[in-house]
Amino acid sequence: MSLDYRNPKLILDTSDHPQGSVTWVSPSNLAIVKYWGKHGRQLPRNPSISLTLDHAATTTTLHYHRREEVGGEPVSLELFFAGHPAPDFARRIKAYLQSILEIYPFLGQLHLVMHTDNSFPHSSGIASSASAMSALTLGLCSLERHFFDTLDDSSAFLQKASYLARLASGSASRSVYPWMAAWGQHGDIEGSSDEYAVPFGDRLHPSFRTIRNAILIVSSGTKAVSSSAGHELMDTHPYAPTRYIQAGQRLSRLIPALEQGDWATFGQIAENEALTLHALMMASNPSYILMKPGSLALIDRIRTFRQETGYSVYFSLDAGPNLHVLYPEDQAEAVEAFLHQECIPLCEEEYWIADRAGEGPREIIG
Ligand code: PMV
Repeated sequence: MSLDYRNPKLILDTSDHPQGSVTWVSPSNLAIVKYWGKHGRQLPRNPSISLTLDHAATTTTLHYHRREEVGGEPVSLELFFAGHPAPDFARRIKAYLQSILEIYPFLGQLHLVMHTDNSFPHSSGIASSASAMSALTLGLCSLERHFFDTLDDSSAFLQKASYLARLASGSASRSVYPWMAAWGQHGDIEGSSDEYAVPFGDRLHPSFRTIRNAILIVSSGTKAVSSSAGHELMDTHPYAPTRYIQAGQRLSRLIPALEQGDWATFGQIAENEALTLHALMMASNPSYILMKPGSLALIDRIRTFRQETGYSVYFSLDAGPNLHVLYPEDQAEAVEAFLHQECIPLCEEEYWIADRAGEGPREIIG
């Protein structure tokens, strides 16, 4: 049964004149089994699972006060990114807030000033929509809780934040949970749903809770083809039906590996998924390539290092050229020595980010 969060009762009384702010820090995530292809309103064609990052995060503050004017635009919003007005981003957020007015009618009664910033540089080539949209929707749920004394149960709070984040950007639904989260119905994950993500951290073998993720920046340029365009190309992709089945099967194999600490299976699936995502792009019509020569050079070095040393070091890719290197904490010293020697010199301006599995979003009070 599908969830219906529409609620005309979430409206402020005429006598209510709330004023204040809420702030959330929410991380980005890296999918191990990828979501690629959607239908309806941001519903996934296949289940996915991701690692919640720690350092790569967005901080968003929503200042609010009661809107005095009547009429005008359905939502009143000013948006500042890294301290500067960001009109394109503001338009996108405004359209999103308007699209959820039936869920949160009180949004039409407020003037919102949103300040948002990322912990990673804008030009780092790291997709920020998962962290940005989850930070926003966690803030919206805080407003609901504050105004109406609802959502005091933390799982209900996070489920709603995840649902709302999904409506903004599919992968953002997974960022609300610590360590790892799964989104999309799958028989081996109880409670899983296409409408929101569910936490997976409790099922993880300890060695995956402390997993390291070095992000190697190959190119910080804007992507030639956006993720939304990429999802759309899956609608007519000749390999799409097989791909959707494959994702579910890979998740079935990945789950016991994550529970048992089986790094070899985990790594094989992570790498296959990354390359499958990019293979789908290359086989789309029109075809496109987001990897750069540097991405392939790094993949080659990582595989050679693994073969020569036996270390559990694997790679993944998002929808872009940058490499995510995955390795266990107890091998971090040796792997990072290798990264410094052989990989970081190949990065754009030798830029990389040392990240790891994280505890999930947090609200900043006060
Ligand atoms: O959430 P979107 O629409 O930006 O799509 C993200 C898709 C991938 O990052 C490539 C895979 C994933 O599952 O996060």
